[in-house]
Amino acid sequence: MKTLFVKTKVKNYPIFIGHNIFNKFRKYQKVYLKNTNNILVVSTKKIPEKYLVKLKKNIKGVKTYTVILPDGEKIKNNNYVVQITDLLSKYNFNRNDCIISIGGGVVGDLSGYVASIYKRGINLVQIPTTLLSQVDSAVGGKTGINNNYGKNIIGTFYQPNFVLIDSVTLSTLPKREMSAGFAEILKYSLILDKKFFNWLCLKGNLILKKRSKNEILIAIHKSCTYKAGVVKKDEFENSHRAILNFGHTFAHAIETASNYSKKIIHGEAVLIGMMLASRLSNRLGYLKNKDLKDIKDIYKKLGLNFKYKKFVTNKNKNNIFKIMINDKKSLGEKIKIILLKKIGVSFIKETTLKNSFIPLILKDIKNGHY
Ligand code: NAD
Ligand code: GLY
Repeated sequence: MKTLFVKTKVKNYPIFIGHNIFNKFRKYQKVYLKNTNNILVVSTKKIPEKYLVKLKKNIKGVKTYTVILPDGEKIKNNNYVVQITDLLSKYNFNRNDCIISIGGGVVGDLSGYVASIYKRGINLVQIPTTLLSQVDSAVGGKTGINNNYGKNIIGTFYQPNFVLIDSVTLSTLPKREMSAGFAEILKYSLILDKKFFNWLCLKGNLILKKRSKNEILIAIHKSCTYKAGVVKKDEFENSHRAILNFGHTFAHAIETASNYSKKIIHGEAVLIGMMLASRLSNRLGYLKNKDLKDIKDIYKKLGLNFKYKKFVTNKNKNNIFKIMINDKKSLGEKIKIILLKKIGVSFIKETTLKNSFIPLILKDIKNGHY
């Protein structure tokens, strides 16, 4: 079992990472939820019940309520915010009380948002159960819901009291969700650490195929360490934190153009987006051919998809670029894009529509590259 601390201006909090650690919850509750008398456990239908049973067995001395929401991105919606806050009011929750989110990034983002606005902020514990949420969304305090115009348009920065990552939950996680989470792990290596990239080349298959608990725990711990480091430097994404969006501007556009259907899930779009961003880094003269080849090789070796053609067609490509320009990370006419100088070294490039690299990508797409 490992403990990692996230240090932010607002709060310092631990991430507990281990295998079969639900039974430690009571210990953490005593320290980090001292004055809590009521807990609302928020989860979704597809989360195997055994994890909730294990968790609830280890919550002691407080009144515990549970709400199970439908599965899927659609719950990141204001209707569910109202539904949960109504429950909190009905059960007389005050600011010392707590919401525990157990599930993937969807329920984590929604619960975090509710915790941040109910009575202007109550306690929050994140128990992420997908690889993606364990290495990314449960750490760093971004919360959010969607509106009719886009994803995560409404949100807050709100840090939890602690995060409990039990890798036992990955035993039931479908293969597709494993590669989606792996995308974010690969991202940390590409933007921050060549050695970690080399390690993933060797160990990636063990992680993706769930053949080694130990390697999975190392990958989660490393990823959370990187994320905590970036968040410490720039909690509110004034600048540096944007590097975590490597590949994501492309990814969000692809997801939006596909109407967030199950045809493509977030991490899969990130895999495509990271390849587009790597290739663009190469075409703009930053990333050497050898590094681009190494990136392609790891995708091939691990069977990660970077083929965009099913999702970016001649018909929708202009729409995709339009969505990219309207991304919430863009500033008026300017768009921020994360590029690589080499594997492990990234930087933020601000460019305008006029000087945009879009013609370059269009040409590549036309010529059948990527
Ligand atoms: P998700 O929450 O939809 O989970 C994916 C699927 O796996 C769901 O069907 C879920 O029910 C199921 N599942 C979860 N845990 C399981 C388990 N242990 N066993 C079996 N099935 C399980 O998706 P996700 O990929 O975890 O998260 C995506 C969301 O995270 C998006 O809404 C995205 O915007 C958000 N996100 C937020 C941040 C952030 O910083 N806050 C970062 C990245 C992504
Ligand atoms: N997932 C990107 C961030 O937390 O900043």
